[in-house]
Amino acid sequence: MTKSWQTKLVHSDATIPAGYRSLVPAVHRGSTTVFPSSSVASDRWDQHAVGYTYGLYGTPTALELAARIAELEGGGQTLLCPGGQAAIALIELALLGAGDHLLVPASVYFPNRKLATTLLARFGVRTTFYDPLLGAGIEALIEETTCLVWCESPGSITMEVQDLPAIVAAAHARGVPVALDNTWSAGVLLDAFAHGVDLTMQALTKYVGGHSDLLLGSVTVRDPSLYERLGAARQVLGLAVSPDDCSLALRGLQTLAVRLSAIEASALAIARWLSARPEVEAVLHPALASCPGHVYWARDFSGSAGLFSIVLAPGPTKAQVHAFVDALALFHVGYSWAGVTSLAMAYEIGGGRGRPAYGHRIVRLNIGLESTADLIDDLDQAFGALRRPAAPGGG
Ligand SMILES: Cc1ncc(COP(=O)(O)O)c(C=O)c1O
Repeated sequence: MTKSWQTKLVHSDATIPAGYRSLVPAVHRGSTTVFPSSSVASDRWDQHAVGYTYGLYGTPTALELAARIAELEGGGQTLLCPGGQAAIALIELALLGAGDHLLVPASVYFPNRKLATTLLARFGVRTTFYDPLLGAGIEALIEETTCLVWCESPGSITMEVQDLPAIVAAAHARGVPVALDNTWSAGVLLDAFAHGVDLTMQALTKYVGGHSDLLLGSVTVRDPSLYERLGAARQVLGLAVSPDDCSLALRGLQTLAVRLSAIEASALAIARWLSARPEVEAVLHPALASCPGHVYWARDFSGSAGLFSIVLAPGPTKAQVHAFVDALALFHVGYSWAGVTSLAMAYEIGGGRGRPAYGHRIVRLNIGLESTADLIDDLDQAFGALRRPAAPGGG
């Protein structure tokens, strides 16, 4: 068939050499997947079973990243989501329905709490927030209608490390699956499936991406029936991921080990230095005895990450705590952690359900890849702001 130039723009006969091999997985962009014939066209989401059907369910770039996460976490299958919070929402929307009861630790990542108290509540799901350190005591909170126990270890901001095996044993005794937000461990410093967890999720935005330039999430499971429920829900929720972001995450994986070990060493040195400072009442770093649940970290984790909190000694006003954070020159003020840049963020924690009322004295630090000595010097000079009278107008 002769083709006009207009048709050649769309249907080209140009050729290139075959056989290119790269060390880098290709970036496959695509919404439409082309089928070899009409009768085999399908819209099934499980491309491992039926072959490629639609970009929404992942191009080879996304499936490669998913397979690598599943391999690292020791799960059977991983589904990717546009962010960590989307991964949380996928699990909760896939597994819960009207009349169900959900257990969530009080130290949970705030948007997860908000999902429970807003959307899930509107859809008829009831949530009980529990003391993250209650361990086997969770048994008493499991009701007839409890359909999921959520864990996050360590917890957001207050960093409580949970007794996962005890929680899993109590939940499984009542037939309830356990999901874990495994973001802090990057999916590699805690073998969640070996501890009996049924579903893990990670914000790949954090350590896997590692450079503060992408948003992605993952949900990993071993049980095929959970995979079915999650995959079907992911399809109807339309949780597409960008192949370009997946490609960046695949690149991030290659340096994850060296970044994590450098960050671990630096964060530990800084946490220990902070522990000896008079301005600091407690360092909530899972690898230090001063962190609630440290014994479970020592028992279950193979290393530590760069995110931890400090509780300042009583005295400074809220304005002085903000002045301390603002006085830091190398630490930026920002939420999304685990990149190469150190961050500091002041919070207000009212307490309750096992969480002490730290008030405005809690500051979360993310340690990046700057020199440890420079970060310590920066903290040292910023502590001066805690003693200076706060600027008028501060809270
Ligand atoms: C523990 C934890 N889980 C989940 C998320 C959500 O990840 P994303 O920002 O990719 O939605 C975050 C983000 O800060 C987090 O800290």
